[in-house]
Amino acid sequence: MGERVREVLISQAEIEAIVTGLAARISRDYEGRQLILIGILKGAYVFLADLARALTIPCEVEFLRVSSYRNQSHPGELEVLTDLSMPLEQYDVLVVEDILDSGRTLSAMLRYLGEKKPRSLKLCAFLDKPSRRQTPLEADYVGREIPDAFVVGYGLDYAQRYRSLPYVGILDLGT
Ligand code: IMP
Ligand code: MG
Repeated sequence: MGERVREVLISQAEIEAIVTGLAARISRDYEGRQLILIGILKGAYVFLADLARALTIPCEVEFLRVSSYRNQSHPGELEVLTDLSMPLEQYDVLVVEDILDSGRTLSAMLRYLGEKKPRSLKLCAFLDKPSRRQTPLEADYVGREIPDAFVVGYGLDYAQRYRSLPYVGILDLGT
């Protein structure tokens, strides 16, 4: 437990500006559509709450809880822990995620949701670490690109802690 937040990478005020900008674009792009935000638990809960409230168009909200078998014998496979309660055929789905890292979990998730045949399927990630990508994947909406550092706060955790920090900080893992 020697870790500590070394520095603030994105302040609360910067987060607000980022979310406001994303919400404006999304509100414009999805005007008149049947928008559903699907948040990926747990990391996306803070970002999704802010994003949904900043939209100027109606939307529905759902959550998916998944686990990736990343260190086991089925890399890239997805285990859906809590599934959606309804079909998606009539919806324009926007997946809302805290951070896009290797891209493995999210590619598997987008494949999974694509099989439900939504009208459209796009991805909105609050943070993006493009240098870490192992699967080619671009988010349609990105709040901020960041360098390869381990970050916490604004929904992001380290061992389930730090999610409720109102800013994004860089974590020093100590040793
Ligand atoms: P990936 O893109 O499949 O590697 O998975 C991204 C997931 O890894 C995110 O949803 C986070 O749960 C987790 N993750 C990746 N980078 C970080 C980080 O810097 N801090 C906290 N969680 C992270
Ligand atoms: Mg996550």
